[in-house]
Amino acid sequence: MAILVTGGAGYIGSVVVEDLREKGVDVVVLDNLSRGHRAAVAPEVEFYEGDIGDIDLVRRICTENGIDATMHFSAFAYVGESVEKPAIYYHNNTVQTIRLLDELIACGVKQFVFSSTCATYGEPQYVPIDEKHPQKPANPYGLSKFFVEQVMKDYDEAYGLKFVALRYFNACGATDSHGEHHDPETHLIPLILEAAAGKRPDISVFGDDYPTPDGTAIRDYIHVLDLSQAHLLALKHLQNGGSSEFVNLGNGTGFSVLEVIEAARKVTARPIKSVIRPRRAGDPSRLIANSAKAKEILGWNPRFADLVTIIESAWSWHQANMHGYDDLPA
Ligand SMILES: NC(=O)c1ccc[n+]([C@@H]2O[C@H](COP(=O)([O-])OP(=O)(O)OC[C@H]3O[C@@H](n4cnc5c(N)ncnc54)[C@H](O)[C@@H]3O)[C@@H](O)[C@H]2O)c1
Repeated sequence: MAILVTGGAGYIGSVVVEDLREKGVDVVVLDNLSRGHRAAVAPEVEFYEGDIGDIDLVRRICTENGIDATMHFSAFAYVGESVEKPAIYYHNNTVQTIRLLDELIACGVKQFVFSSTCATYGEPQYVPIDEKHPQKPANPYGLSKFFVEQVMKDYDEAYGLKFVALRYFNACGATDSHGEHHDPETHLIPLILEAAAGKRPDISVFGDDYPTPDGTAIRDYIHVLDLSQAHLLALKHLQNGGSSEFVNLGNGTGFSVLEVIEAARKVTARPIKSVIRPRRAGDPSRLIANSAKAKEILGWNPRFADLVTIIESAWSWHQANMHGYDDLPA
């Protein structure tokens, strides 16, 4: 038995690969390294460099490794880029995922854990957001994932695909050996830590006139290890014959941009300069998850909800890997 992890050389995928291996699960990684790092995958792991849309390769991987289930992380995931270049998002995230799904089903691999996103909800009509919240994605990134969700529903009906679509809120934090290294980096916590480390002069705060207590936008930050735990539970759910589900993953607690910066100042003991800049178009004031369903259906029990713990883990990985994975042998 082996699990295919697409995008396993990326941030979240590499942590889940580490976690699966620690639990004794055989893992095979497929990644085209367009946005990931070869050094993020341990040398002992079976690694295929290639595209999820390469159906011959996918078939070979299934046959050579006896794949039972797939965890699908690979995607492009920059909202701004998706607005400028929608074609590459619909192609990479939607079309290529359909090609992958078709080939997996042809190979008899019908258990699928999918990295979806809170971006499928769009502008919140209420918070915390539960899974029944209307889905009106506000950008091509969110839409590219929303389309896959629709395809998976129909594939369940028609072909017996069983899936868990995990709608993550803001992933963050690190393990001792795996952390966040995106290029360019757009996520708040690594950007703040780059400012703390002197790699950038300051951290931009986009908007201080939101209807929130300190005027800055509030987001739900979830530790990557808690995300990982949910993936392992989702896999177990499917292996036990569970039904297809859409499940939110967040802490259920929101932190404002200024609160995150303040917590990072405490953790790093560095003065982090922040600069207020205009709001970015389409940034909602609050995004907070209701994750009751993950607890109910999967038995999910997040362990690292505390913001300081999250930032400490990210800072410690950042300190040990000042240039991310670029310092490590590929
Ligand atoms: N990081 C977050 O906060 C967040 C939030 C919500 C959802 N997600 C979703 O979680 C998943 C993982 O996010 P991440 O932050 O780890 O991203 P990442 O960019 O670090 O990892 C994605 C990986 O997929 C690979 N990849 C991309 N297209 C590919 C293709 N066609 N074939 C093979 N490999 C390909 C990249 O090389 C990279 O290694 C993504 O699907 C993303 O949309 C992330």
